[in-house]
Amino acid sequence: MNLILLGPPGAGKGTQAKRLEERYGLVQLSTGDMLRAERASGTPLGKKVQAIMDSGQLVSDDIIVDLIAARIDRLPKGKGFILDGFPRTQPQAEALDAMLARKGLKLDRVIEMKVDEMALIDRIAGRFSCAKCGASYHDRHRRPHQEGVCDACGAHEFVRRADDRPETVKARLSTYRELTAPILPYYRAKGVLRTVDGMAPIDQVAAQIETILESPGAAPNG
Ligand code: AP5
Repeated sequence: MNLILLGPPGAGKGTQAKRLEERYGLVQLSTGDMLRAERASGTPLGKKVQAIMDSGQLVSDDIIVDLIAARIDRLPKGKGFILDGFPRTQPQAEALDAMLARKGLKLDRVIEMKVDEMALIDRIAGRFSCAKCGASYHDRHRRPHQEGVCDACGAHEFVRRADDRPETVKARLSTYRELTAPILPYYRAKGVLRTVDGMAPIDQVAAQIETILESPGAAPNG
């Protein structure tokens, strides 16, 4: 099973991708996480993309397509994936199709996560994550079970993203409206697009996605 989670910043793509990894043994491929790892390691690529990411703009299609192609190449044979944050433009969507065709793979589902803009701003403003393992939390919706201790790895340090400042969030939302939302009809026409109500609580969003993946025509273990 190969999936795309498609939605605006803060829609819950990363949160649901982690759950899908655990439930179905799929691999999360998050272009945002890959770029942040390059930045954290101080690589030339990380330095190149820093200002672009911090301004809420998109990194160039060439860079992103190379990054994702390398990761798909390294996947163990037969292992399915969840694309989180890719594709984000029409050229990226077409490059993905070409890449999958070359490898004899197919895209099973594109899950659109719909969330109101006001809720997105609230979610992003309250987001923080574990500095060690990256587990994601929210000031109100998802606090660690024990205050100040990561549920996943027990670490005590947490960080907030540089691009989660309110002015950058507005730019990210407008980038989504202009460049990413227009690819939805492309996937609708292919018959693979399904939409979930991303305003629901995290568990209910997960249940909606599971229903889609376990319905005829989609094969989580295939
Ligand atoms: P990226 O890291 O992909 O950011 P994004 O798409 O803006 O998405 P986010 O990670 O902000 O949100 P999310 O949907 O994963 O939500 P989350 O689960 O964390 O990209 C960052 C930058 O990298 C881009 O701006 C661009 O510059 C560059 N980039 C990346 N990919 C690129 C590409 N393909 N092409 C070009 N450039 C690229 O949830 C958010 C918060 O809400 C959390 O606190 C969570 O706990 C909470 N939450 C989640 N679900 C719910 C719920 N149902 N109810 C209440 N709270 C919830």
